[in-house]
Amino acid sequence: MAVTTRTSLSLTRRPRRLRRTEAIRALVRETRLTPDCFIYPLFVGAGEGVRREIGSMPGVFQLSVDEAIKEAAAAKSDGVPAVILFGLPEKKDPEGSVAYDPDAPVQTAVRALKREVRDVLVITDVCLCEYTSHGHCGIVDGDEIVNDITVDQLVRAALSHAVAGADVVAPSDMMDGRVGAIRKALDERGFDRTAIMSYAAKYCSGFYGPFREAADSTPQFGDRRSHQMDPGNVVEALREVEIDIQEGADIVMVKPALPYLDVLAKVKERFGYPTAAYHVSGEYSMLKAAAQRGWLDEPRVMMESLIGIKRAGADMIITYYARDAARLL
Ligand code: PBG
Repeated sequence: MAVTTRTSLSLTRRPRRLRRTEAIRALVRETRLTPDCFIYPLFVGAGEGVRREIGSMPGVFQLSVDEAIKEAAAAKSDGVPAVILFGLPEKKDPEGSVAYDPDAPVQTAVRALKREVRDVLVITDVCLCEYTSHGHCGIVDGDEIVNDITVDQLVRAALSHAVAGADVVAPSDMMDGRVGAIRKALDERGFDRTAIMSYAAKYCSGFYGPFREAADSTPQFGDRRSHQMDPGNVVEALREVEIDIQEGADIVMVKPALPYLDVLAKVKERFGYPTAAYHVSGEYSMLKAAAQRGWLDEPRVMMESLIGIKRAGADMIITYYARDAARLL
């Protein structure tokens, strides 16, 4: 039978009309990525001129403070307005006390970034796992991560970041009550303008594997199931977010991103609050690995992942792809 080029169906609705050219697709596009919704993670350690690539995260580096400044400045000129800092301390102890050392890499980097990189927004991750000798997010008693004394340590860390000049502190530990305790301590010392981005719904995820290599924070025993959320839960995520908002969080986060887009969508819909998503290390590494084998077109899957996260409800995305994506936009 001959194929005719003329229409034979009489259809009133033909959605394909709006997909014919890039111009018309752009007119009806519902979600757009812009570089100003990206937050770029930096791993900051001691030394000078250090730029050590992380094996499981090609293109991501452990940096000394001077290199972190260069990286943040380069991100800024790519259009990325914000960085989030993770610390690589020279020494660790069971209490994670270097987390609030004013001369540790993160505090030093915050001061340097605020001094040297114009208008950069500096966010600091607040957790003990990079600082404890056992790699846990808190103070350990036997096999228990003890909540309330851990919160005291987190408050000290958050305060030291605020004193150094951080714009936003981001507790990622998932202890109960830490947002309220940090808010209170900040306010009492006059840091009422320091915002809190809370890792509110942070799941116990295998996708953090490469980060733990980057931050040298793999727990020496046990796991994080007693504080991070069970992957099967979503109603509980809404309760977690509600609690953090009540305690004074300014921004709430869902983490990881792609396996939890339903959670992200519900959080945004329910609370209408400034919402962040963390496109975590494992999400980055799996795209990198497949791309290196030629199995995936990296720029394309990168942009598709990020737009999916935005479409689901993220106002902002923490991603190791921040600079690459910004440069493509
Ligand atoms: C804890 C923290 C982790 C990540 C961010 N903050 C690791 C963890 O909970 O084990 C993971 C980020 C990533 O995987 O990219 N300080």
